[in-house]
Amino acid sequence: MNNGDMSLLQVAVSLEEEIVSIRRHLHQYPELGFQEFITSAYVADYLEQLGLHVQRGIAGTGVVALLETGRPGPCIAVRADMDALPLQEQTGLPYASRHDGVMHACGHDGHMAMALGAARMLTGLERELAGTVKFIFQPAEEMLGGARHMIDAGVLESPRVDGIIGLHLWPDLPTGRFGVKAGTVMASMDHVDITIHGQSGHGAAPHQGVDAIIAAAHVLSVLQALVSRESDPADAVVLSMGSIHGGSLPNIIADRVEIRGTVRAVNTATRERMRTRVAELAGAVAAGLNARADVRYECGYPPTVNDARWILRAEEAVRELYGEEAVHHLAHSQMTSEDMAYYMEHVPGAFLLIGAGGEGRGRFPLHHPELAVDERALLYGAAYLAQFVRSYLRRTVGA
Ligand code: NI
Repeated sequence: MNNGDMSLLQVAVSLEEEIVSIRRHLHQYPELGFQEFITSAYVADYLEQLGLHVQRGIAGTGVVALLETGRPGPCIAVRADMDALPLQEQTGLPYASRHDGVMHACGHDGHMAMALGAARMLTGLERELAGTVKFIFQPAEEMLGGARHMIDAGVLESPRVDGIIGLHLWPDLPTGRFGVKAGTVMASMDHVDITIHGQSGHGAAPHQGVDAIIAAAHVLSVLQALVSRESDPADAVVLSMGSIHGGSLPNIIADRVEIRGTVRAVNTATRERMRTRVAELAGAVAAGLNARADVRYECGYPPTVNDARWILRAEEAVRELYGEEAVHHLAHSQMTSEDMAYYMEHVPGAFLLIGAGGEGRGRFPLHHPELAVDERALLYGAAYLAQFVRSYLRRTVGA
């Protein structure tokens, strides 16, 4: 294919049907993290057919493909995630999930389709590029941090990646717009488990026991003060306790309560402070009531931080293709998290949200069993990825 005389957008339009059909195919066979066997085989086969140099089985099911121009230049990585969620799809669409209890409800099917579409577009443009494009298809973005495993497996080396780009489909934004944010675009995600230990006794004689439920109630309410009283109101932080279990009968003093939650922060310093203070405060409040709090804090994804120069390049690529109005400056960081953050701890990069909130089901949020992203977004995203790469690797004529 020779794309030299067509704009990338025209090429993308000509490939739209294919990109949508890739997405629909992948959507029907969703797989959970580190089990993306069918998915990664499909992705790897497609990239091989394009003539790329493909490595399979990285960090389990990961795939890396190199598009080598044969001319010296930088190496840019395009990242997509492959895993689905443990959800029963309820869209009723003809291409709905055929795997019971598993669904692409976070748009990762679309992320793969866009990256494969971009790979196809770029293979037609090799002659005007210098350097290397590295396509990274990673397993297990949801909770399991597949990105970290890919990095440990060396995907940012040989050739060394100079920068990385990626997208997340975003139903909250209208199709055709790109959510752009310099600095932190998504928050960190840590997990906290608190076990309150008291002492059992008869409900009629509370003074003879230590009530773990009363201690847990105080711990729960006072922890919110870390957000409302100790944090700068302009510095976003969330502490949500989503699970509490304890006690057995109404007339017995509970000796043990387990509380589990998630902590999100935009700033690394705030993240660290929360970690220290949750343990301190839970411990002190429980101790004040003669109970004991064991706090287990597990650090998850770091904040996803866009590089200042790379985010400008991203904006520029969006503008070149779709005009100024397609650039949507996000007013604040999202409190959701992304393991894209791990790559961007090592190399600069740009992670954008791509509008996919068309009519109808686009209004359902991510992780919803009725989510059906607006497929028109795929063409926009594929062309954007290709455009970014093309601008970055474009060689000076005659050089
Ligand atoms: Ni996702």
